[in-house]
Amino acid sequence: MNRGYKSIVFYICSTAALGGLLFGLDQGFIANSLETIREVYGLDIRSAEHYSSILATGSVIGALLSGIFARYLGRKKSLVLSGLIFCSASLLSAFLPPMPVMYGSRFFLGFAVGIASFIVPLYLSETAPAPIRGAMGTLFQLLITIGIFLISVTNVFIAKWIATPRTALPLMFAIIVLFATLMFVGSLFLPESPRWLMLRGRRDQAIEVLKKTLNTREDVEREIRDIEGTLSKQGVRIGILFKGYFIKILLVGIFLQIFQQLVGINVMIYYAPTIFGYAGLTGIVAMMTVPTVNMLFTFPAIRLVEKWGRKKLLYIGALCMLIAMLASGAAFTVIGNTSDPAMIAGGPKVILLVAVIFYIFGFAVSWGPVAWLVCSEIFPLRGRELGMTVTTMVNWTFAGLLMDNALTFMQIHGNASIFFIFALFCGLSIAFVAAFVPETKGVTLEQIEWNLKAGKKMRSLGDVTPGNHHL
Ligand code: BGC
Repeated sequence: MNRGYKSIVFYICSTAALGGLLFGLDQGFIANSLETIREVYGLDIRSAEHYSSILATGSVIGALLSGIFARYLGRKKSLVLSGLIFCSASLLSAFLPPMPVMYGSRFFLGFAVGIASFIVPLYLSETAPAPIRGAMGTLFQLLITIGIFLISVTNVFIAKWIATPRTALPLMFAIIVLFATLMFVGSLFLPESPRWLMLRGRRDQAIEVLKKTLNTREDVEREIRDIEGTLSKQGVRIGILFKGYFIKILLVGIFLQIFQQLVGINVMIYYAPTIFGYAGLTGIVAMMTVPTVNMLFTFPAIRLVEKWGRKKLLYIGALCMLIAMLASGAAFTVIGNTSDPAMIAGGPKVILLVAVIFYIFGFAVSWGPVAWLVCSEIFPLRGRELGMTVTTMVNWTFAGLLMDNALTFMQIHGNASIFFIFALFCGLSIAFVAAFVPETKGVTLEQIEWNLKAGKKMRSLGDVTPGNHHL
């Protein structure tokens, strides 16, 4: 029975969602601040890549430990912890400390991103009322792209208005400090997740929280019964790692996340202004195209995953990215390795710009949200936390590898080379989806688990077997 949600529900959703926004703010920070950072610290390309990518190293470790934090500290305290780290690390960076400390701060920002990217969806799925839980899951990806967009805009304006890099850079970090403080202070007043309280045997406290978030006594009782029904099946079971069916599905999740990164998205998110610069394209178009297109096309993706299904979107997205990468590679082949705008003809520049727009459209509408969504759907209940932790860590490891090497690779092998390699991975990702990825649209998680244990092929896990909707 829905008689509208209590205001505490909006408070819970918006405070926890700030974690998604901060993920985006830190991920999108580099693109339009890299020049300013390089001027302040006199960094060469290699050091700039290290500074950018150390976020990913922090995220891998944050993601690894977040399961432990979630279990022993609780969901709320883990959110408070990530808010505190976001605050302190961005504040420290705003004081422009020596470079090793800057590296350390960005590592810790990544650590907080790793925790937030695990805890926020978990907390929301456990605390938000059932009818809005699905929407909350997809909201997370949207918030990441909004965060990337927001920080790109503010960094562009700060760099434009404040000519002195040493004054501009602290202001850029101040934006992150602002949202991090909101998240930190806001999360202090969040209620603990009722599911975690039940897990720790604190039934009375769980009921108190549910009374605050739900409207009627019947709703509270139903929720308590639901939680009790699933508790015994939840949790990490390391033994599952030795089951053949789990290893197979884990590999599907791992490769899905590897391909999500090997199509090259973060090279664009991080270095588009630099790469556009290599083609003689500068100014607002070079700085804002990627974050704007990325955010705008995540909105339709949220409806399309339910309408068209996951696989169709993955095919369409990969095909768009494949064409776009071939076109970008061709444009750079014509441009060569000069970055003198006077030497570069208009044609290749236009082709590059249109291709990048098409590429980001392809990613935002498909692989961006769908890779995460499918990874949250394919694992059996007992291996879900483990599966999601491993696949999240793999995603960040490959993100880091690309961020740490892309610009140097272009320097050594020529600007066009990297685009052709990404095109190759787009092609391989299509073959991978066709051969191994199941269609999970409209299928219950129980049906997927039943099919998995019955030994069905990976790509057929979404087939509905009459009479087997439950385990
Ligand atoms: C990816 C990130 C990427 C972001 C861009 C996410 O799905 O995992 O690595 O930066 O999308 O929107």
